[in-house]
Amino acid sequence: MIKVFNGKRLKIREMNRSDLKRAKDFLDYINSLVEEGAMISVKKKKTLGEEKERLKNQIKEIKNKRKIIILAEDKNKIAGICECWLKKERESHVGEVAISVRKEYRGIGLGKFLLSEILKLAKKKLKPKIFRLSVFETNKIAQNLYKKFGFKKVAKIPKQIEYKGKLIAEIVMIKEAK
Ligand SMILES: CC(C)(COP(=O)(O)OP(=O)(O)OC[C@H]1O[C@@H](n2cnc3c(N)ncnc32)[C@H](O)[C@@H]1OP(=O)(O)O)[C@@H](O)C(=O)NCCC(=O)NCCS
Repeated sequence: MIKVFNGKRLKIREMNRSDLKRAKDFLDYINSLVEEGAMISVKKKKTLGEEKERLKNQIKEIKNKRKIIILAEDKNKIAGICECWLKKERESHVGEVAISVRKEYRGIGLGKFLLSEILKLAKKKLKPKIFRLSVFETNKIAQNLYKKFGFKKVAKIPKQIEYKGKLIAEIVMIKEAK
């Protein structure tokens, strides 16, 4: 599907096997987030080999119906990624959610759109009982976004994340998947 965000025409689609050939574009995306110091768990830039391996694992999880990934693309450039995956064993009713948008595509509604699409699709395809996510305590923008979708803060775990030389808290947020 094509959607226009503030004049930018973006293609929104699910990740699939053909993306294995696009490792360079995914590498460019993740490393752009690392370079700007985005509040995500990845700290060090990845290599092409590492990214190929990660993509292979993701495709396997998608094939096994344990994960869904929605991409936003501006031609060959990845503009945003949103994922939901089922946890394992006694936590397999929990759908973990993660989102990121490339810096130059922020603040134009893409994050909101990707999150609403992933929640809809996850309910249909993964059928979790509850959604869960983790966010840095200092990441108020992401917390605002999650609150808009009904996520509630249920825990603050101190000193879980090392970010720019400081130990900061991890915030856990959940939402019923009714
Ligand atoms: C968090 C993130 C995904 C939001 O994506 P986005 O496309 O910029 O978000 P949107 O434009 O759809 O805005 C969604 C909501 O986020 C909040 N938001 C966005 N930009 C904001 C800003 N500059 N200040 C405060 N809140 C902001 C608002 O609540 C906004 O809703 P509104 O437009 O109704 O006010 C994006 O900032 C990002 O990728 N950041 C880096 C990676 C990251 O932090 N990921 C989350 C890890 S848990």
